[in-house]
Amino acid sequence: MSEYRMHLMVCAGTGCVSNKSLEIKEVLEDEIKKAGLENEILVVTTGCNGFCAQGPIMVVHPGGIFYQMLTKEDIPRLVKEHFLKGRPVKELMYTPSAQEPPIPKLSDIGFFSKQRLVALKNRGLLDPEKIDEYIARDGYTALAKALTEMSPKGIIKDVADSGLRGRGGGGFPTGKKWQFAQEAKGDRKFVVCNADEGDPGAFMDRSIIESDPHVVLEGMAIGAKAIGASHGYVYIRAEYPLAIERINIAIKQAREYGLLGGDILGTGFKFDVTVFKGAGAFVCGEETALISSIEGKAPEPVIRPPFPVQSGLWGKPTCINNVETWATIPSIINRGAKWFSEIGTEKSKGTKVFSLVGKIRNAGLVEVPMGITLKEIVYEIGGGIPGGKKFKAVQTGGPSGGCIPASLIDLPIDYEQLAEAGSIMGSGGMIVLDEDTCMVDIAKYFLAFTNDESCGKCTSCREGSAALLEILTRICNGEGQEKDLELLNDLGIAIKNASLCGLGQTLPNPVLSTLKYFRDEYVEHIKYKRCSASVCRGIISSACQHTCPLGQDVPCYVGLIANGKFDEAVEIVRKENPLPAICGRVCHHPCEAKCSAGEGEEEPISIRALKRFVADYEMERGIKFQPEVKPSNGDKVAIIGAGPAGLTCAYYLALEGYKVTIFEALPVVGGMLSVGIPEYRLPRQILNLEIDNIVKLGVEIKTNTAIGRDMQLADLKNEFKAIFIATGAHQGIKMGIPGEDADGVMDAVDFLRAVNLKQKIEIGAKVAVVGGGNAAVDAARSVSRLGSEVVVLYRRTRAEMPAENEEIEELLRECIEIKYLTVPVKVISEGGKLKGVECIRMKLGEVDAGGRRRPVPIEGSEFTLELDSLIIAISQRPDVSFLNNGASIKVSKWNTIEVDTETFHSDEEGVFAGGDVITGPNTVSDAMAHGKIAARMINKYIKGVPVKREYKVTRPAIQVEAVELTDEEIESLKKPAMPVLSVQERRGNFNEVELGLVREMAMSEARRCLRCDLELQKEESAE
Ligand SMILES: Cc1cc2nc3c(=O)[nH]c(=O)nc-3n(C[C@H](O)[C@H](O)[C@H](O)COP(=O)(O)OP(=O)(O)OC[C@H]3O[C@@H](n4cnc5c(N)ncnc54)[C@H](O)[C@@H]3O)c2cc1C
Ligand SMILES: Cc1cc2nc3c(=O)[nH]c(=O)nc-3n(C[C@H](O)[C@H](O)[C@H](O)COP(=O)(O)O)c2cc1C
Ligand code: SF4
Ligand code: SF4
Ligand code: FES
Repeated sequence: MSEYRMHLMVCAGTGCVSNKSLEIKEVLEDEIKKAGLENEILVVTTGCNGFCAQGPIMVVHPGGIFYQMLTKEDIPRLVKEHFLKGRPVKELMYTPSAQEPPIPKLSDIGFFSKQRLVALKNRGLLDPEKIDEYIARDGYTALAKALTEMSPKGIIKDVADSGLRGRGGGGFPTGKKWQFAQEAKGDRKFVVCNADEGDPGAFMDRSIIESDPHVVLEGMAIGAKAIGASHGYVYIRAEYPLAIERINIAIKQAREYGLLGGDILGTGFKFDVTVFKGAGAFVCGEETALISSIEGKAPEPVIRPPFPVQSGLWGKPTCINNVETWATIPSIINRGAKWFSEIGTEKSKGTKVFSLVGKIRNAGLVEVPMGITLKEIVYEIGGGIPGGKKFKAVQTGGPSGGCIPASLIDLPIDYEQLAEAGSIMGSGGMIVLDEDTCMVDIAKYFLAFTNDESCGKCTSCREGSAALLEILTRICNGEGQEKDLELLNDLGIAIKNASLCGLGQTLPNPVLSTLKYFRDEYVEHIKYKRCSASVCRGIISSACQHTCPLGQDVPCYVGLIANGKFDEAVEIVRKENPLPAICGRVCHHPCEAKCSAGEGEEEPISIRALKRFVADYEMERGIKFQPEVKPSNGDKVAIIGAGPAGLTCAYYLALEGYKVTIFEALPVVGGMLSVGIPEYRLPRQILNLEIDNIVKLGVEIKTNTAIGRDMQLADLKNEFKAIFIATGAHQGIKMGIPGEDADGVMDAVDFLRAVNLKQKIEIGAKVAVVGGGNAAVDAARSVSRLGSEVVVLYRRTRAEMPAENEEIEELLRECIEIKYLTVPVKVISEGGKLKGVECIRMKLGEVDAGGRRRPVPIEGSEFTLELDSLIIAISQRPDVSFLNNGASIKVSKWNTIEVDTETFHSDEEGVFAGGDVITGPNTVSDAMAHGKIAARMINKYIKGVPVKREYKVTRPAIQVEAVELTDEEIESLKKPAMPVLSVQERRGNFNEVELGLVREMAMSEARRCLRCDLELQKEESAE
């Protein structure tokens, strides 16, 4: 290799080849030739580099510069800049996040730096089709040592002392297996490399063979010498053509070099290898089934003992090892048992290769020391979960492995710890699951696989897996019963105990481990007819409707908008929502986060904007929707607080014929809608029109009436049949730093209230806002509109900011600076008046329990900001001091009122509570949902019927026809950008920024909806 000044290692693993790495190689060679560099630079194709998610990959040596996601178009620039001018191209390097710079060197990238390569020691460093390159990297020296310097017993002793355990799943000590095989009597013996690898998503073994086939052959030859075998088989599934091709090339070359065949290395040792293409069933990987398969019989497991080492292929002693086990042997022989046994944990020595897949940024093949924690694998190697989603669990061990929950993130990974946690190492499949995974559905998925793959010999496995699958399917369809949980558990244990082979013995693992760690999700499906991941179609119908706290029939109204039937769409929206124009502007739209149209790189449907479109359409024409109102029943209900929770409760109670009075402490109605959210997001005229609609139903609102100050709770109890407390969370939380009481330091809620009530407020010329949520962003944008200079201080990075993304975008567009990773530590004041704030810079440290990297202070990075005002927007809590006057209502340590979470009934008879006062600061639509449910419960309470919730699966209210789209339209439809005021037009006023979708935009966006509700209807009518 030394005659070239540079080697370009282009990955030719299956992943990169499918991403056109071989075409890239051709262009690279052409461009190198054009630049006259062909005698200086050599392009080498290698096996899988491991970081498949970033493919096509190329590594430049010397220097180890890592290029990723290459295209043919990148190559001319790369050749010119890097190889001619010596300027590596940053844009083609790996960049962990938008806030971090590109990382030039492979060894500095998190994905690689925590790995330890033994079985994959030659990864990305050689051409798997050239034996010379393997030999140049010490290839076949271990075999030479074994044949010339070691006795069979000595080889076995080294393997035993190394502590190596079989990597195929069972973890049986390899040295012991070899010893049994060596001691077994037989005129012929065999070694077998098990490369069946039938686990969905796993590609460790295939990849090892594709990238370094000689290391497997060398390991097999050493094993053959140790046990006295003269022939070996590589049992590989036919679906792995590249691996089959490469192992065949390797065998041919090894024969030519005298490393396989008659007289290996002149030592008289005879050993040759045959490749056997497997039938493709998962059970073929089981060693006794594999033997039957090679013998030409049906691949069914048989009872052991005798074990294959005693009686295997054609009744002869046969030592079967996994690909990775064989690939580890040459390193043990060359570097010694002690070296290997020093890696790993007490009982699990060495390294393990995993295929890290699923909801993970850096998917690929990794080799790590045993004992590494799950956290290190998921966050440091895997780079965490994409799309800001929460890490939920890892499924290890293939289809019959178990699910390890996020709460066990510090679990060290080895055979014992995984078994204790209810999973298995298996052969190294590791599927990362995020919050969008339903654990019942995942158990069902794996059960469907193992049920399908059961060879059917044992009743327990065949019928038991079918029964488990049937129960899981029922639960996923919302038809489960509480007793199913015990049944699943008992059946799972029985199947484990009664089955013949590893498949039946482990197939209940996904069910048993999810039952153990995610029982709540099973209960949620069975009792509440909910699937919080919005996956189980039989329960959810459509993710948007199921996720909406108000149960809005989204697909129906979106379908009606697509058909231009706006009046009907309004009716559907209004049925479940008394404040649609408000929600259409400020709802945190959880429906969009789960919208099926938004999967992968696609954009979700603008559900909130569509709701606003129909609500505004109706308002422009005067509100026409007339809900059905029952005649007055004479019963009176009191509501404390006129925020979204109180207003919604009042609306639904009024429809039931109650006389409702709302007591509101402030001079205005709307709660945070009125005094928290600024007018540029929610114009008061819109708010007032929707409130008027509720008042028109006969709801009385007494403003300037604070319970606890102007009246007592006990007074209300005498007059009203029931009370709903919806007083929100208005008390700002302090930072707890010195000097915080200075004049000029204020809370965001107080500041926004003053701005919204048009009270005079002095904030001066320079203001800082502390926090990263909605209140912080609203406060900063309001300060800017009042004409002051403002900066936001946030302790983490943009990715972690809890405020709505749209709002952060607009804040940045309004040229407001956010100082990320910054925390105030001291308020500086003079004569009690604020002068500035001392801040410290932070860096992101270890990942915390919530999966976010904890900010830690950078010593000596303190700096001072001169300020006239400091607005604190870190959080709020409820003020429940009005309960002190004799009420027996329980309050938590966070000052929230404790209620029965299903009925919202408090400890005090006839008193219900909902909204932010029970949750702490939350959202408008959740508060409204509480108000709606509380109204139903209060109605039951007053009517004297049991106060109980009924739960049903989500279903559309009406059937709405789908619109027909042409292929062209499907291609061209795009999420519309919300029309907004220009930044210029926003200056110095609180005019609404978002202008709303116009008719054509709304119809085109609605046509983009996938109408998920219709899929279920189709499935149901097909049954
Ligand atoms: C600045 C800011 C921006 C926000 N932006 C959004 C957003 O964009 N989207 C979103 O979904 N959520 C947002 N929220 C949160 C949302 O406003 C609240 O979750 C929601 O308003 C809670 O509704 P609620 O009815 O429980 O309480 P509130 O809206 O807080 O209403 C409670 C009412 O009770 C009254 N009250 C309190 N004590 C008494 C008493 N003793 N006697 C009589 N009356 C009393 C209060 O004056 C108030 O009017 C925001 C919050 C803030 C602070
Ligand atoms: C259903 C089933 C499938 C299996 N599939 C594989 C496989 O694909 N590859 C493998 O090496 N071992 C597989 N095994 C394990 C083998 O039976 C055997 O234990 C292993 O090949 C021995 O090699 P080792 O000691 O190096 O792990 C499977 C076992 C069962 C029960
Ligand atoms: S446990 Fe299942 S796969 Fe294994 S032998 Fe029995 S029926 Fe076949
Ligand atoms: S695509 Fe349409 S029906 Fe499906 S989740 Fe999104 S909005 Fe709902
Ligand atoms: S195939 Fe290229 S990195 Fe895996």
